[in-house]
Amino acid sequence: MATMTRRSGSQQGFEQLLEYIGEHLDFESGFYNDAYMDRRITARMRRTDTDSYRAYRRLLERDDGEREELLDSLSINVTGFFRNPDAWDGLRSVLRDLTGQNRQVDVWSAPSADGREPYSVAMLALDDPEIDADRIDILGTDINHEILRTARAGVYETSKTTDIADELEPLSEIEPYVDRDGNAFAVRDGVKDMVSFEQHDLIRGDPKGTFDLILCRNLLIYIDSAYKVPIFETIEGSLRDGGHLMIGMTETIPTEMRDTFEAADKQHRIYRKR
Ligand SMILES: C[S@@+](CC[C@H](N)C(=O)[O-])C[C@H]1O[C@@H](n2cnc3c(N)ncnc32)[C@H](O)[C@@H]1O
Repeated sequence: MATMTRRSGSQQGFEQLLEYIGEHLDFESGFYNDAYMDRRITARMRRTDTDSYRAYRRLLERDDGEREELLDSLSINVTGFFRNPDAWDGLRSVLRDLTGQNRQVDVWSAPSADGREPYSVAMLALDDPEIDADRIDILGTDINHEILRTARAGVYETSKTTDIADELEPLSEIEPYVDRDGNAFAVRDGVKDMVSFEQHDLIRGDPKGTFDLILCRNLLIYIDSAYKVPIFETIEGSLRDGGHLMIGMTETIPTEMRDTFEAADKQHRIYRKR
């Protein structure tokens, strides 16, 4: 579909538009696959009634607001508490096992987006009597500084598109973990104390520490295949031997890395470093 759109438009116009975005919008369009970029751009073109890539580029050149809108729609920051709830059953078992070994357990959520993923790990640990939350430390990292500000604040709003109470459904109760004021849900200190946030680029950044469990979910789907291996090298370098990696439900381990990771719980996309 994306190719068809480009053929009926202009390949050259599309490439020039990507070049413009790379140079003027502080966005590394080259990291993301063309189909993804095309979907987001054509959606903005529909919203602005623009009928060619060239015309859209001219619109970006003259309209600051549209540059902001496009950046917003490109920042792929969709996330949620307990995203894909079934997968969290797999994670629950891993956390029970790890904390049962009577030692410190280090968890890395990368990318963390606005923090709802690492906070979900903390809430799950506090909520499950068989997980020893006192032994768990969680780091959340993302490339996007702005989104990390939201993560640190830890306040989320129910809106037309997001139902926070619904997202928190996997917990036995929510009151111990969030302070609810109408549509606003503020993560409580007991949860926040388990999580810290830092900016980090999974493609160009160095490995970070030695973790027992890494969650790298729902970034690979947008990334051009050339950049998947660097991401997995960062992960491999940050995971202790035998450590666990969880990826997104629609994601796979790149062929080049299949000797490094073996399936621990295939159904929930959990792997173990050999
Ligand atoms: C769709 S969200 C996924 C968040 C969460 N893991 C989840 O599954 O809900 C993708 C996030 O990746 C971040 N991101 C994009 N490129 C990145 C990179 N090179 N390094 C680290 N984070 C990146 C984006 O800022 C965005 O917050």
